[in-house]
Amino acid sequence: MGRLFDFMLPENKSPLTADSTDGLFHFINEVSLVFLIGITIALVYFAFKYKRKSEDDETPVITHNNTLEITWSVIPLIIVMVIFGWGYSGWLNLKAVPNDAYEIQATGFKWNWNFNYENGAQTLNELHVPKGRPIKVVMQSRDVLHSFFIPDYRIKHDVVPGRYTYVWFQAEETGESIIFCTEYCGTSHSDMLAKVIVHEPDEFEKWLELNGGGPSGSPVELGEQLITMNGCQTCHSLDGSSGIGPSFQGIWGREQQFTDGSTAVTDENYIRESILYPGEKVVAGHDNVMVSYDGLLSDDDITNIIEYLKTIN
Ligand code: CUA
Repeated sequence: MGRLFDFMLPENKSPLTADSTDGLFHFINEVSLVFLIGITIALVYFAFKYKRKSEDDETPVITHNNTLEITWSVIPLIIVMVIFGWGYSGWLNLKAVPNDAYEIQATGFKWNWNFNYENGAQTLNELHVPKGRPIKVVMQSRDVLHSFFIPDYRIKHDVVPGRYTYVWFQAEETGESIIFCTEYCGTSHSDMLAKVIVHEPDEFEKWLELNGGGPSGSPVELGEQLITMNGCQTCHSLDGSSGIGPSFQGIWGREQQFTDGSTAVTDENYIRESILYPGEKVVAGHDNVMVSYDGLLSDDDITNIIEYLKTIN
């Protein structure tokens, strides 16, 4: 059903979570519009009706008007209570996850979203879900405050370091929807984009099976997967183009110049130090914005990453 303020909202692709939000959104806008028009008309009408007509036209002294004061207190009170009740029941709905929800773990970090599935599958900046089934996304942050927002589903929740938060939705059509980070989180906050990809249920099962089991392969392959899953390319290009950080292309054996004027040739120890203590040697022309991966990557992980970086020419 088309409504007056529909143009302000993206398409509703998860009615179970979006309907109450949309209904309330329309109600508030329509009530506001009625008052805006009513008050404007009264204002203009009174301006003409009570215009000062002569020099001795004096304003009468009015102390109060009970009927009027009660009316303009009680009507707004009723409207505000309706909005409160409606908003509260919508909030309860967004907090009450259906029992049969499919659970996916999400981690927000500067400036990517990582998703983990029950069978070990992992994706970066792509949330794969089946259609027509409630999905619960359990979220945590690795560094600072982020916020997980899917406008098409009308869900948004802060992602907080040191605690878990969650959202749920049920996509009713296949296709893609955008995921935003809506909490300012540093240099590339505006690029912290991801998407939901909704599959038919049987296609989702196939996708899951194909991607399950976690990473495997040679050290170079494992290193490549780690680089991909940690979103390193967000800041470090593979093709030589300059980004927030230096490009990975040709990084091995390259002489780096640092912001303090010193230089060093890229070797194992330099890469290891840059991963664990990124602020120690900042390449000239870049800012010290990388977070430490100390505790997030094991020694084996770092060795695999080094093996992969050696191969990027
Ligand atoms: Cu993460 Cu903004």
